[in-house]
Amino acid sequence: MINVIIVGAGHRALTYASYARHASDKMKIVGVADPVKLRREQVAVEYGLASEQCFESAEELAAKGKLADAVINGTMDAEHVPTTLPLLETGYDVLLEKPFAVSEEEIKILDGAVKRTGRKVMICHVLRYAPFYSELKKRVLAGEIGEIINIQAAEHVSYHHVASCFVRGKWHREDVCGSSSLMSKCCHDLDLLTWFCSGIPPVKVSSFGGLHYFTREKAPANSGQYCLLDCPIEKDCLYSARKHYLDHPDRWSFYVWAGIEHIKNATLANKEAFLKDKSNPYSQCVWKLDNDVVDRQSVLVEFADGATATHSMVCGCSRPMRKLHIIGTHGELHGIMDDNKYTVRHIDLRPEHEYSEEIFDLTNEGDTTGAFGGHGGGDLRLIADFISALEGKTPSISCTALADSLNGHLIGFAADKAMKENIIIEL
Ligand SMILES: NC(=O)c1ccc[n+]([C@@H]2O[C@H](COP(=O)([O-])OP(=O)(O)OC[C@H]3O[C@@H](n4cnc5c(N)ncnc54)[C@H](O)[C@@H]3O)[C@@H](O)[C@H]2O)c1
Repeated sequence: MINVIIVGAGHRALTYASYARHASDKMKIVGVADPVKLRREQVAVEYGLASEQCFESAEELAAKGKLADAVINGTMDAEHVPTTLPLLETGYDVLLEKPFAVSEEEIKILDGAVKRTGRKVMICHVLRYAPFYSELKKRVLAGEIGEIINIQAAEHVSYHHVASCFVRGKWHREDVCGSSSLMSKCCHDLDLLTWFCSGIPPVKVSSFGGLHYFTREKAPANSGQYCLLDCPIEKDCLYSARKHYLDHPDRWSFYVWAGIEHIKNATLANKEAFLKDKSNPYSQCVWKLDNDVVDRQSVLVEFADGATATHSMVCGCSRPMRKLHIIGTHGELHGIMDDNKYTVRHIDLRPEHEYSEEIFDLTNEGDTTGAFGGHGGGDLRLIADFISALEGKTPSISCTALADSLNGHLIGFAADKAMKENIIIEL
């Protein structure tokens, strides 16, 4: 039984913590640290914690000495390193959310602390655990497509996702959340590029992108500032707060309704009142907020062996999806994660043939039922692997130890700098 304390009792940490209910013989929640009293109390009720098992911060928890085997650190981006350092010094192993650092400097500090304390820090790169990606990784490791020549990746961030998180939501400004939209949204995908090219360092990065749509200049004529209060075109607007949040009250609910989480079982009337509150960004026009993170960005990477890779983050798409195409010297792998299918293609030299291909369907891998959580089934598989690593079992091929997760983040920081300064960066 691995005893775990929740640090930062928000949406993400509670998702991983729910593994304690799925596997009550393997993981037990024995504490919580969060400055928000309501969140501490909710966790205490959920997991039957006494008041002495509840702490107001990671720092207060660390000062008490080691009370459990590990912590799940689900604080926000800019808190990850400052909250993890004292916990490592106290002797905790840490499951740490991504992006695990907000600068290259922080990466060095965290890496140094991990080496000094000898503790484990595993990063929540949940996509490595989604069957779609782990199956492709197995095929790459087995040499099925030969040497990788090129990887093309893309994330299409839907219109409702970008509006809820990167325009109206808490990742709308880098100076507020600590991360660029590339890092907060796509550090997973950059990690995947380095995971597929494991052992080969990235050497060059360039990037283009910008914020071009969710700006005042693109606001429709006659639009108001507040969807439900003063907007004459709300009924026809693709970004109406009424259509996004009242017609879909469960979509992104943990972000949209966080401001009224003190109301137990909030009704639609409570929610409508909240969307009429002028201080609430979710009440406001997506073209008239103070968001500054980019709504599109493409990254180009060269690896030391000459392999090249691209990743495009595109926000405002009608359908959310992640696409991947890996081209090797002997064949190709490609698919859309959200379809739960991928294609394996090989050179076919037979007369009248050019290539052979086979489609693999992963629908029965537990992804569509929600049994393994979000991210293509990655969420609960990841926490299960963390617990099994702490039990001393051999880590899975998806295991995301810190040392193995550095390169994806380094690409992201370099890409943001390259985009802003219009330069190519040598890593
Ligand atoms: N792995 C993924 O795919 C994925 C998906 C979404 C979000 N995330 C990341 O997960 C992280 C958490 O996101 P969230 O939406 O759950 O955040 P959240 O805001 O809901 O939760 C963060 C919690 O941390 C608490 N906190 C702040 N300072 C603290 C401290 N010093 N000690 C203890 N607790 C503290 C806050 O009070 C809050 O309750 C973010 O970094 C986000 O980027 C990862």
